[in-house]
Amino acid sequence: MINDIIQISKEAGELIRNAFGKTHSVEFKTNELNLVTETDKASEKLITDFIRKKYPSHGVLAEEGSESNKSAEYLWVVDPLDGTTNFAHGLPIFSVSIGLQKNGETIAGVVYDVMRNVLYSAEKGSGSFENEKRINVSTNENIGHSILVTGFPYNVKENPDKAYERFIAFLKQARAIRRLGSAAIDFCYAANGVFDGFWEVSLHPWDICAGKLIVEEAGGIVTDFDGNKIDIYSKRILASNGAIHQKMIEVLKNV
Ligand code: IPD
Ligand code: CA
Ligand code: CA
Repeated sequence: MINDIIQISKEAGELIRNAFGKTHSVEFKTNELNLVTETDKASEKLITDFIRKKYPSHGVLAEEGSESNKSAEYLWVVDPLDGTTNFAHGLPIFSVSIGLQKNGETIAGVVYDVMRNVLYSAEKGSGSFENEKRINVSTNENIGHSILVTGFPYNVKENPDKAYERFIAFLKQARAIRRLGSAAIDFCYAANGVFDGFWEVSLHPWDICAGKLIVEEAGGIVTDFDGNKIDIYSKRILASNGAIHQKMIEVLKNV
């Protein structure tokens, strides 16, 4: 099935690429920070039509409302456009993210970095790949030499939940912090060793599913802020190369 996931991710990516830089009908979701465009919806339709036609017994959980048969043996977890704010503002950092679960365990994940035309993929037990090249997390053990990445939830102004304090705490420890605006790409850059760690709160299953497997299959660790195992429904995500994981947990504990 991985070849199907790759193929449909690329097709959705092409649809998004063709729409990039054109005028969009932008709607607000929960508030004025949380956008959705016609391209998010068109990408989701392309992907979910494909799944329903080829795998009618499979379940779907997708960001823009396509939800069916969630208790099926196989569940496709889909973010049709991760990085909508970037997309809508003309910043070329966004992706298509598709994870596949079997009985609640993620067995495959694909993140397609649309404008770079780079595809990240992983199958459980088979490693992670950037296009055809095997990738690994960084070996850096020193948080002072690290580049970390994070993001902020759309309700950060109403419910900051220490987001600003966490950012400042890591800013004091790391070499640099980045905020790319696509959580799925954040995971992939942790998997290929560009970033040493990634933390974020209030992500959704479609932001996490593929990226978490890609980090783990690249040799990294993904837990909550206390180091506990998580699933795709977890609200606190800490992904790292493993070597600085404990140090990141300590930073988070002291906030
Ligand atoms: C968002 C991006 C962003 C993250 C937000 C997500 P969307 O996804 O992944 O990096 O900080 O929390 O909601 O809305 O562009 O699919
Ligand atoms: Ca997303
Ligand atoms: Ca999205």
